[in-house]
Amino acid sequence: MTLIETFYPWMKPWLFRLDAERAHTLTVKMMVIAHRLGMLKSVVGTPQQPHNVMGLTFPNVLGLAAGMDKSASAVDAWGALGFGFVEVGTLTPRPQPGNPKPRLFRLPEHEALINRMGFNNPGIHSAVKKLKNRRTKAVVGVNIGKNFDTPNEKAVDDYLFCLKASYAVADYIAVNISSPNTKGLRDLQAEGAMRQLISELKTEQASLKTEHGKTVPLLVKIAPDLNDMQIEALARVFNEQNIDGVIATNTTIDREAVTGHALAQEAGGLSGAPVRERSNVVLQAFRMLLKESVPLIGVGGIVSGTDAVEKMKAGAALVQVYSGLVYRGPGLVRDILGQVK
Ligand SMILES: Cc1cc2nc3c(=O)[nH]c(=O)nc-3n(C[C@H](O)[C@H](O)[C@H](O)COP(=O)(O)O)c2cc1C
Repeated sequence: MTLIETFYPWMKPWLFRLDAERAHTLTVKMMVIAHRLGMLKSVVGTPQQPHNVMGLTFPNVLGLAAGMDKSASAVDAWGALGFGFVEVGTLTPRPQPGNPKPRLFRLPEHEALINRMGFNNPGIHSAVKKLKNRRTKAVVGVNIGKNFDTPNEKAVDDYLFCLKASYAVADYIAVNISSPNTKGLRDLQAEGAMRQLISELKTEQASLKTEHGKTVPLLVKIAPDLNDMQIEALARVFNEQNIDGVIATNTTIDREAVTGHALAQEAGGLSGAPVRERSNVVLQAFRMLLKESVPLIGVGGIVSGTDAVEKMKAGAALVQVYSGLVYRGPGLVRDILGQVK
């Protein structure tokens, strides 16, 4: 048990009385302070089970999903809490404020969130600077995107910019083309656009490998709202372009699972328990279609150790959480690590 686990049941009602984004900002700040005070260290130790995936050694299979620490400000704290890997971002070439507030909503009855943050972030260079000074043993992924005002025809340039800027400090790089909150971003999942994007990024990765003397795996993060034909087309591109890994999935624009909820019609991506089933279907489909050597990171709807086990059974080599952490608190880390092997 960590001290933070003991305190969370008292803190949660107070945090849930605050506006969701305010509570999130405060939580990340408190994590940094709690880490400095040594409150994140477990007295019984976090179960560690190193896994080799994509040539990297992950201390354990559990990761923090992108969006929780967009600016890479608490990476050491997440590592101390027990995460085997932390994906920071999404980061764009230039800093941007994101969409107008309010843009984050809780649906506690469903253990779900709806967000339309719109890639609010301090820009890739700011995050890179912070990552240079990290001390954690957790693997760090850098999730990259395009600025909201970059047209899709020029999107490749934004991704190339972020790839080059973060290559030296990243353990892996995740290409986010699946957020529903940047206009037109998901269009990059079309077969032709994806082939061009991945092929240019893989070429750049090869030259950065020579320059830096290390291979930084390149992954693509996909949406759960893909039909069978789109899934097949994407898997084809990933296999042919030798992508290093796939992250399934981002949030959903589908609202069927929360029909009738007062906030169901808020624009944005739905995450948490209601996205679990669809995320698992998409994960399973990609596991069937991708070359065996291409690992999948499973994310979407994990709110318990059992959910994480289910995700691994569906084909995930590693798993990530976001919304589950909001509803279940830091105890979720222990619950998951106690159950996954
Ligand atoms: C508030 C919020 C912000 C997010 N921001 C990002 C982001 O910037 N980049 C990204 O790739 N995914 C982002 N996500 C998606 C999560 O990484 C994850 O894929 C999704 O929430 C499903 O997992 P979950 O059900 O465990 O939350 C965000 C999710 C939430 C709730």
